[in-house]
Amino acid sequence: TGGVTTIDAGYKNTGSCESEITFLDGEKGILRYRGYSIEELAEEADFLEVAYLLIFGELPTKEQHDKFHADIKSKSIVDDDVRKIIDAFPKSAHPMGVLSSLTSALTAFNPSSVNVDSEEDMYNSVVKILGKFPVLVAWTMRKKQGLPLDYGSNTLGYVENVLKMMFKQPNEKYVQNKIIVDALDKLLILHADHEQNCSTSTVRIVGSSHAGLFASLSAGISALWGPLHGGANQAVLEMLEAIKEDGGDTKKYMAKAKDKNDPFRLMGFGHRVYKNFDPRARIIKKAADEVLADLGVEDPILEIAKGLEQEALNDDYFVKRKLYPNVDFYSGIIYRAMGIPTDMFTVMFALGRLPGWIAQWREMRLRKEPIGRPRQLYVGETLRPFKKLEKR
Ligand code: SDX
Repeated sequence: TGGVTTIDAGYKNTGSCESEITFLDGEKGILRYRGYSIEELAEEADFLEVAYLLIFGELPTKEQHDKFHADIKSKSIVDDDVRKIIDAFPKSAHPMGVLSSLTSALTAFNPSSVNVDSEEDMYNSVVKILGKFPVLVAWTMRKKQGLPLDYGSNTLGYVENVLKMMFKQPNEKYVQNKIIVDALDKLLILHADHEQNCSTSTVRIVGSSHAGLFASLSAGISALWGPLHGGANQAVLEMLEAIKEDGGDTKKYMAKAKDKNDPFRLMGFGHRVYKNFDPRARIIKKAADEVLADLGVEDPILEIAKGLEQEALNDDYFVKRKLYPNVDFYSGIIYRAMGIPTDMFTVMFALGRLPGWIAQWREMRLRKEPIGRPRQLYVGETLRPFKKLEKR
């Protein structure tokens, strides 16, 4: 057993690394990226600034920001053979599986592995993935819709161009909706990093074997896909839809969530770290009200979500276990109001989390962290002799 006497299932009480990137205080509901509060960044910054801050440690100057964006745009072309890979997927494929495969495939088209000790090499890899990933995100959605895969416009901002690549209809003039641009920019900032969550820990441990950046990111996308993690934002909308179909009977779902014999959980509730509130959920809930009002969208699902939150906040089972809405509880309501399909919600989470994954991977490599290899407590069979097949 290598000296191991106890195990820490799910690493609930295990610190895996030192990091300078993101600070969480679960009791006080504090989230900071490189020392800046999430509240200020969500209100004042744009997503590209936050990406630069997370990855390189400082907010960019105007000149750095503009160069960063220009370099990203210059590297945003995806090898046209990637279309053949996308064409091979059935329309029924879940976008997260497609995105994880395409991200891994980027290694085939960009073989240069990252020399993290070369600032220039690292910078080039960063702008390459930040340029190509939004294209893969948009093409994943467009393929399912049977719409042409294109690159939007080089004249647009980063988030504006993501939306154009996703939503421009053939033969129609595309009109930017500033409400949607600003809402998506804020959502991506709120998802950009979150210290050692499941998918980030996955990116780190894959990268700790010195596997490439794109391969590590592909693994992170797969981990995020799970409904206990990023996949929860899709599961929340499916749950709220089911409650709506049930005539808004939230009590039935609260009972299911508390029934130990029922695997059902109140999706979008609970968090490993936040035990009073998730600061991101507060900001997103407020944004949901504002965006739907600005868009003139009446969505009964929002009222059902608020009703469910109120019930849970007054229910002993949830209060005792310190279960509150997390980042995934309200985000899908905004994505839906933007016209993003439900099965693309977790892809939008990945788009937001990308700079955090990159930042954490870079820090892990720069700090020369050892390969991740935990031990175990062996509880299996003791030694036993092999019997040949004819004697068994
Ligand atoms: C994200 O780590 C991160 O930072 C993640 C994230 C990020 O930005 O990267 O914040 C993003 O993944 C948010 C979480 C999204 N997942 C969901 O909303 C799925 C529903 N939530 C749960 O499955 C759960 O709350 C987790 C996964 C979020 C946290 O799980 P833990 O910390 O392992 O807690 P647990 O499963 O041990 O639960 C403790 C107790 C248990 O009851 P008891 O056995 O003690 O009686 O609380 C219960 C659980 O049954 N519980 C729930 C519940 N969440 C926990 N009961 C009903 N509904 C829930 N949602």
